[in-house]
Amino acid sequence: MRTVIEETRGIYDLTHRQITLTPSGQAMMAYLWQDWGGYLGQLSWTTRDQLRELTRATGLAPRTTGLDLCCGTGGIARYLAEATGCAMTGLDYSAPAIEIARRAGTAVRPPIRFDHGDARALPYPAATFDAVVSVDSLVIVPDRHRVVAECARVLKPGGRLVFTDEVLTGPYPRDPDTLRALSVYGRLFPQTPSGYRRLLAHAGFVDIGIRDTTAMFVAINRRWAESYRRFAKQGREVLGDKLFDDGLAFFETLAEQGAARRLGQVRVRATRGPA
Ligand SMILES: C[S@@+](CC[C@H](N)C(=O)[O-])C[C@H]1O[C@@H](n2cnc3c(N)ncnc32)[C@H](O)[C@@H]1O
Repeated sequence: MRTVIEETRGIYDLTHRQITLTPSGQAMMAYLWQDWGGYLGQLSWTTRDQLRELTRATGLAPRTTGLDLCCGTGGIARYLAEATGCAMTGLDYSAPAIEIARRAGTAVRPPIRFDHGDARALPYPAATFDAVVSVDSLVIVPDRHRVVAECARVLKPGGRLVFTDEVLTGPYPRDPDTLRALSVYGRLFPQTPSGYRRLLAHAGFVDIGIRDTTAMFVAINRRWAESYRRFAKQGREVLGDKLFDDGLAFFETLAEQGAARRLGQVRVRATRGPA
């Protein structure tokens, strides 16, 4: 039987490659992000303004160390390194995404290290980082308690965990078409906001703050769907008909579910308590 990770890795490998390395993918991204500060290399639902706020919450600065968990092709890690001057590391389980991130990151100062790995078993010693960041990824990683425990382990006491994630804000959808549309990029394992609070406290985090960012999440999903429709011909060429149709249904469904207050997005910050 294939594991959850094996089920979705191929889709991420292909999407990262085609969106990042083809002119059509780049055109779609330029259109999608044009009103929200431009494309930063993110394959997610986080704008430049939101990233600025997230960066502030990390406390990252020169001579500090940060980890971008599930970094994709590295756009967020590049932004963090350039904005703060910290020493950044990025980790993702898509090998093609990591190769692209390494190539795109060569000119960035301070230099960024990109590692191929699994968020549930981080290849770093305890107390390595001053901040761990993750953008719109944890929802597809099973065993969330392990991920949160790994974040606590690799953070220095007093270090910050700051992430955006998709959460359950109403009853989990049961309709089969909705469920199918939502699982294109991997089965979803959404926490509730209060579930996150408990999980983080249990792992030793203190000063936990959770902000609801669903309104912007809905707007960005609508724009993802709009950019798919606008660039349909190019999108079909680079993603293939099936992944294109599935992707369009995915973003339309997320927008609907978000507007109906069933699924939403939160930005979470928490401080690693004393050892
Ligand atoms: C929606 S993308 C977001 C990528 C990036 N954070 C961004 O904003 O552009 C989710 C990412 O999570 C990665 N991912 C999923 N499960 C993972 C796991 N168990 N360990 C590490 N990375 C994982 C995928 O390869 C993908 O790059």
